[in-house]
Amino acid sequence: MSISQMARTLNESATMKLNEKASILRAKGEPVIHLGGGEPKSRAPFDAILSTTGMLNSAEIRYTPADGTPAMKKAIIRYTEEFYNRLVAPENVIATSGAKQAIMVALHAILNPQEEVIFPAPYWVSYPEMVKLCQAIPVTALPEDGTFYPKLQDIEEKVGSYTKAIIINSPNNPTGAMYSEEFIADVVGFCEKRDLYLIMDDIYHRLIFDGRTPINCYDFAKDLSENSKLIVVNGVSKQYAMTGYRIGWAVANKRLTEVMGIIQGHQTSGPSGLLQKAAIGAINGVQSSVASLRATLENNRNIMIDSLKSFEGIKVTVPDGTFYCFADFSVYGKNSNELAEFLIDKVQVVTVPGAEFGMEGYLRLSYCGTIKEIQKGIERIKWALDLNSPSELYIGDRKLVRDWT
Ligand SMILES: Cc1ncc(COP(=O)(O)O)c(C=O)c1O
Repeated sequence: MSISQMARTLNESATMKLNEKASILRAKGEPVIHLGGGEPKSRAPFDAILSTTGMLNSAEIRYTPADGTPAMKKAIIRYTEEFYNRLVAPENVIATSGAKQAIMVALHAILNPQEEVIFPAPYWVSYPEMVKLCQAIPVTALPEDGTFYPKLQDIEEKVGSYTKAIIINSPNNPTGAMYSEEFIADVVGFCEKRDLYLIMDDIYHRLIFDGRTPINCYDFAKDLSENSKLIVVNGVSKQYAMTGYRIGWAVANKRLTEVMGIIQGHQTSGPSGLLQKAAIGAINGVQSSVASLRATLENNRNIMIDSLKSFEGIKVTVPDGTFYCFADFSVYGKNSNELAEFLIDKVQVVTVPGAEFGMEGYLRLSYCGTIKEIQKGIERIKWALDLNSPSELYIGDRKLVRDWT
């Protein structure tokens, strides 16, 4: 079959593939523990549900403006004012089908073939593929000091004449690291000086721990005019536990926002009007669900870190936010794909291989599930890998006997 050269360069989303594998195993009755997930398990805020009922009952769900309804834009403007202390116009705002589409249309709007986009490693699995979808080149910047906290110098070294944009995701998927204020200030200043686009992927914005407060990139921007190349992406998926609603947004200069709207108009005609209603409900409604999700995740993080401490040789950086822990399992195998497959096959625990995020020897472990799942999952992983643990393990009334060395 003839498929395009570009399509042939793309890899399937590893996280989606694993979700599929976990559901197939579950459907077969296997006692799967999913530590590979990327979505909170709490319910969507009540205000999100309530605000859709009128439209549902009317049975009139129609096309909306491609860049979002006026009410959706108003909600995004309100969010930007409240959480970024910045007042923007409706023409600076586009609602999209998830933060993913916001990043995708932004990249389509700014990139020419062969131009380069730089992002720190480890990185979210979709960035390289999204850049490739624009026939552009992804360039990764691994922190030289071996931490998950990049410095401007790590990025600066990768900048060349083809560099068009930088993507920063903090708090970060997969590490949970929240980059320092100094780093964000440096990157904002650098992009302004070098006239580069800066995409701030803030999708985990308020899911941060230990009393931290979100870092606001606008605080460091000198140019907030319509020439600014700063693009801020956010959405309801993670902080409001509304992944399936598929509503995100971007805030950018007017001309860029207009172009993103034109692209989106031809791609999808814009996000669903019904789901925009739900997102408006979440943003404008009672915010207690965000606080309670944040507190649950912080507690889950502590439990996961405590459980991992019992492991010989595993190196862990305590996550500052999100619901991911990116742990160094290299003492148990350098090939993270093989290690993740082994854990699914032997003890039915799903993890995501570090290779998918640009770092071998690591596994991404999610703590967005229940405490029991976290504890049992880590117990099973330890049993499978640590040969000093007893040779038998019970999963329910099923007895597993370790027959590997
Ligand atoms: C870093 C990052 N950016 C963007 C997204 C996409 O968010 P959405 O579900 O709103 O498209 C994700 C989802 O996992 C993510 O981890």
